[in-house]
Amino acid sequence: MTTEIRNTIRFLLNDRPVELADVSPVQTLLDFLRIDRSLRGTKEGCAEGDCGACTVLVGRLLDGKLKYESVNACIRFVASLDGCHVVTVEALAQPNGPLHPVQQAMVDTHASQCGFCTPGFVMSLYGLWMTNAKPSVQEIEKALQGNLCRCTGYAAIIRAAEAIASVGELGKDPLIVEREEITRQLEALRDGRRVEIGGEDERVVLPASLDDFAVVLEANPKATIVAGSTDVGLWVTKFMRDIAPVVHLSHLEELRRISVDANGISLAAGVSYTEAYPVIVRHFPQLRELWDRIGGEQVRNMGTVGGNIANGSPIGDTPPALIALGASVILRKGARRRTLPLEAFFIEYGKQDREPGEFVETVRIPFLDETDRFAVYKITKRFDEDISAVCGAFRVKLDGDGKVADVAIAFGGMAGTPKRASNVEAALKGAQWNDAAIEAGVAAFERDYTPLTDWRASSEYRMLVARNLLRRFHLETQETRNIRIDRTVAVAM
Ligand SMILES: Cc1cc2nc3c(=O)[nH]c(=O)nc-3n(C[C@H](O)[C@H](O)[C@H](O)COP(=O)(O)OP(=O)(O)OC[C@H]3O[C@@H](n4cnc5c(N)ncnc54)[C@H](O)[C@@H]3O)c2cc1C
Ligand code: FES
Ligand code: FES
Repeated sequence: MTTEIRNTIRFLLNDRPVELADVSPVQTLLDFLRIDRSLRGTKEGCAEGDCGACTVLVGRLLDGKLKYESVNACIRFVASLDGCHVVTVEALAQPNGPLHPVQQAMVDTHASQCGFCTPGFVMSLYGLWMTNAKPSVQEIEKALQGNLCRCTGYAAIIRAAEAIASVGELGKDPLIVEREEITRQLEALRDGRRVEIGGEDERVVLPASLDDFAVVLEANPKATIVAGSTDVGLWVTKFMRDIAPVVHLSHLEELRRISVDANGISLAAGVSYTEAYPVIVRHFPQLRELWDRIGGEQVRNMGTVGGNIANGSPIGDTPPALIALGASVILRKGARRRTLPLEAFFIEYGKQDREPGEFVETVRIPFLDETDRFAVYKITKRFDEDISAVCGAFRVKLDGDGKVADVAIAFGGMAGTPKRASNVEAALKGAQWNDAAIEAGVAAFERDYTPLTDWRASSEYRMLVARNLLRRFHLETQETRNIRIDRTVAVAM
């Protein structure tokens, strides 16, 4: 069967259709808006997804439903927008017309001083308002984790967020009023074709389906896979890396599926943190805070668990928890699939068990048993939107005599890969779950890890934290069976 091919990227930008035949693999949405379209309300602060000055909304169809999310335009590639609706701050207030309720609320509460961050805050708050018209302060703070303001101060901005509902009605908002029409226009953009842009050196491909993705990748084993681009985007904006040829996956609905059966959860590789959140916290409430502290809202809307695993980073936040839970990855090359325990995927720093042309298709997370005790601790310098210095995950099962029948402990930030503490586990296995066993486990850490010193933490600090986290886990779990621990900590270093 021949695959039909289109050679343009098509999307909606505010109230206009856009069709582009010439899109570089490294062209960011921010550059496109500011340079090509002179839409300069969207600002560039950091160009690495941290400050939120570049926040725009991207709407896309999933199962026929249109959903808008805040994203960082600085690390989002234009090519990934095929079939999407991009909404920038310019769409909010008409020339000489009234301000949008979100903007008016910012004015009324004096929530802007120099104004550089303001369009980004407005867009993040717009995204929040659309799904939650009367958010709590906690919900507002979570939605704004990825927006930094250096002069106004956050109290006024939070007051603005609380005031939006009294300034305007959600039901009158253009994106709500025109939702059916926008949905119709986005559906019309879908033609089921593979998109191929650029010549040999600049090739960008958006496969037509999951099977087509496997075909394209097998034929282009050196291609860079781009999911949410929250890592790859920085290779371009910070390291000027040439990433061509590129194969995108975020547009593939088949890679955004989540399924739950009697034994666990399966996340397709393109599922974002935001999409996974409800099902993750329902079945693993112990992961709620870890998930809330991955990046900011925009990063969670874009970034995927699949990307967090596939990048092989020793400080990715999900691998330690998923290893301790006994998760596995399904890898696919062409039509062939194989399943690996997640811990076996990480071979050494920068090296994973992934063949050329192979990709992560699914992450499978088994449920805990009733008697499992489980916790994960993320240790960072800053509580929100910071990368872990150390991330430790612990799962233990005790038998009827209070002895350790099963144990899994994994750490990030302690080695060149996310790694199990097999010597610590051996010291604990079969022992009574008491202080003496914990101290034997603590003593075994140096046989498992020789952590690095870097700008996040010293080697000594990391080792001390890891040992103390085991003690903490013991203290928090020794009294009660099946305790629900829902806490992570930030510790000043
Ligand atoms: C501001 C900011 C804050 C961040 N905070 C955190 C944090 O708190 N915790 C944390 O762990 N990470 C954090 N990150 C890093 C990043 O968000 C995560 O690693 C994210 O999960 C990467 O997913 P992605 O979909 O964006 O991957 P991408 O950037 O698209 O890809 C990452 C890598 O994985 C490969 N890849 C992607 N999908 C597949 C696949 N299906 N098969 C094979 N290879 C694939 C890509 O080729 C690339 O090598 C942060 C990033 C930013 C910019
Ligand atoms: S410019 Fe700072 S997040 Fe994009
Ligand atoms: S108003 Fe100046 S950075 Fe926020």
